[in-house]
Amino acid sequence: MFHKNGPTFFELTHQALVSVERGYDLLAEKFDYTPFRTPDAILDRVFEGEVSAGGVRSAIDLCCGTGAGLERLRALARESIVGVDLSKGMLDRARVASERAPGRASVSLVQGDVLAYDASWGQHELATCFGAFGHILEADEPRFVRAVRDALVVGGRFVFVTADEGPSPRELGFWVTHGFNAVMRVRNALWKPPFVMYYLTFMVPRARALLEHEGFTVRVDRGVFAPPFDRYVRVVATRQR
Ligand SMILES: C[S@@+](CC[C@H](N)C(=O)[O-])C[C@H]1O[C@@H](n2cnc3c(N)ncnc32)[C@H](O)[C@@H]1O
Repeated sequence: MFHKNGPTFFELTHQALVSVERGYDLLAEKFDYTPFRTPDAILDRVFEGEVSAGGVRSAIDLCCGTGAGLERLRALARESIVGVDLSKGMLDRARVASERAPGRASVSLVQGDVLAYDASWGQHELATCFGAFGHILEADEPRFVRAVRDALVVGGRFVFVTADEGPSPRELGFWVTHGFNAVMRVRNALWKPPFVMYYLTFMVPRARALLEHEGFTVRVDRGVFAPPFDRYVRVVATRQR
């Protein structure tokens, strides 16, 4: 549908009719040919001026997928990196990608739910989560933020990309995202298991409130990303206690 090696419309529809875990298992092989993988143009800039090569002892990428974030984290961490994801299929791809990536940090991959911190993740100086907030229901966001806090040492940073606000009704994006969310709500009301995937979630005002509530200080960096990604901002949330 997006690329000759990517999934067909039928395959994507099938994926959306199963659970998130099973859906990504089915998509894993072709995921890197979809626009759902975080684009290099964002990954190239997100750590600029914030984390340099070897700048942290260890790092964790939550909802790591096929390893888009882990590939970058490997060079930033001196000792180890950890990827957490629900889908074994995605983790298998992430292992290959991150072990090939530049850097010497050891790589661990954990199959798990980012809504519940597990001691096997360890505690890190840097945490990231890319392209996955849409899979976390608003009601579950406080649990997610607590899991991020527990995955960080005091002073550790959670670096992520979001937007200040959604598109306005004058923009096509407004109708596409709200239309998609409406279809998903109907699908989830009629069909089990649910497939949690909604646009316009964890944007700056709510993310800031939830993070500050859990003892983070929050800095929002605007102007980090070039068009067409210039409506996105980088957020650096630092665990204070
Ligand atoms: C759109 S992909 C993004 C992958 C990668 N971070 C990237 O930017 O390319 C979303 C990933 O989140 C994972 N995921 C969704 N909900 C999750 C949860 N509750 N716990 C762990 N992983 C989850 C999915 O399995 C999938 O691999």
